[in-house]
Amino acid sequence: MNPWWIGLLLLVRTDVNYDESKVPRYTLPDPLRTEAGEPVTTPEIWFEKRRPELLELFAEHVYGHTPGGAPEGMRIVLDATDETALGGKATRKLYTVYFDPERPKPYMELLVYLPNDGPRPAPVFLGLNFHGNQSVHPDPEIPITRSWVRNVPERGVTNHRATEATRGMAASRWPVERILERGYGLATAYYGDLDPDFDDGFQNGVHPLFYRPGQSRPLPNEWGAIGAWAWGLSRAMDVLERDPDVDAKRVAVMGHSRLGKTALWAGAQDERFALVISNNSGCGGAALSRRRFGETVRHINTAFPHWFCENFHRYNDREDDLPVDQHELIALIAPRPVYIASAEEDLWADPRGEFLAALAADPVYRLLGTDGLATDKMPDLSRPIHSRIGYHIRPGKHDVTLYDWEQYLNFADRHLGKP
Ligand code: GCU
Repeated sequence: MNPWWIGLLLLVRTDVNYDESKVPRYTLPDPLRTEAGEPVTTPEIWFEKRRPELLELFAEHVYGHTPGGAPEGMRIVLDATDETALGGKATRKLYTVYFDPERPKPYMELLVYLPNDGPRPAPVFLGLNFHGNQSVHPDPEIPITRSWVRNVPERGVTNHRATEATRGMAASRWPVERILERGYGLATAYYGDLDPDFDDGFQNGVHPLFYRPGQSRPLPNEWGAIGAWAWGLSRAMDVLERDPDVDAKRVAVMGHSRLGKTALWAGAQDERFALVISNNSGCGGAALSRRRFGETVRHINTAFPHWFCENFHRYNDREDDLPVDQHELIALIAPRPVYIASAEEDLWADPRGEFLAALAADPVYRLLGTDGLATDKMPDLSRPIHSRIGYHIRPGKHDVTLYDWEQYLNFADRHLGKP
């Protein structure tokens, strides 16, 4: 039985606050004060004491600890290079990274496009995608992912296997030609290669590679899916570092939504990422948890129990007890440039909470000698701010648009140097 009013109740959720006047009073933890209460007054204290402390707190209470580095015996194979891709505009490289020296799985396929017209080595945007590498562009030479994918019945995906019809299905989110034209390369991998996005108790994906004898799931303070996806971004970085056509000192990591949360966590942990972009990342990403506006810690842990570590579930309805908040995740990226993008209609992701987190990260950026976020007022729609902490809110929905990409390209030109 499914009475109509149950459907209605699900639509008009009563447990979600979208009213600014109902945001509770809260006090943010101070990124510039150590857990022992000492003020952080110099870059040295930040880097030697406070930054490691915050990284540890995020690992212990939010995303879980990640096994360090690449697994022993990891193999990077360049499967194909084509210098005449996309009508001659690009060089396409197809890599496979094998994580286990003994077995063919798990692996990650990395698709790289480099501009033939641009400088070499080229700066690169790196991001994970939601539906397989073939979804980012109709290019018929991109191998269709063989990994588990979410069903997309409109594209004939009904048994978790991608189809030909999924080629280019996410192309509007990946303006490949435009990126190339601006002198940047694009590298992307499918997040499901690292950990399929459903709760299976961490039996598939990369987690089991690191289980100790007798272990069958991560401990309460060990990585969940976001941790694994972020780890995969670092492995993609390992590949880019070895590619002589890529300027590994100018790699921008970018992600949308759950993959925006992932990009922030990857950028926080791995200082090789020169620039970090969060597109509509919301709860557990750029938005302040303590505001409890739109998606909350309880919502996210209930709907996606596998994303964060088990310890994070202890903070359902107890946001004020969290030892950190998300402004400190942004601060962990300092002094590297970071861009936070919101969308007006994406209230679930709390655009104001994203802006306020960017603002609360500003003191750390200033301590490290940058201009931080060059405003303390939330800007109007489509008025991007491109100080070292960048921010915009554009009209429209939860999505990645060409407008967003134009900002990221301009921001990268400004902070990484125009190619
Ligand atoms: C859900 C989830 C968000 C997430 C989004 C996405 O809406 O609640 O936290 O960002 O999915 O990844 O698309």
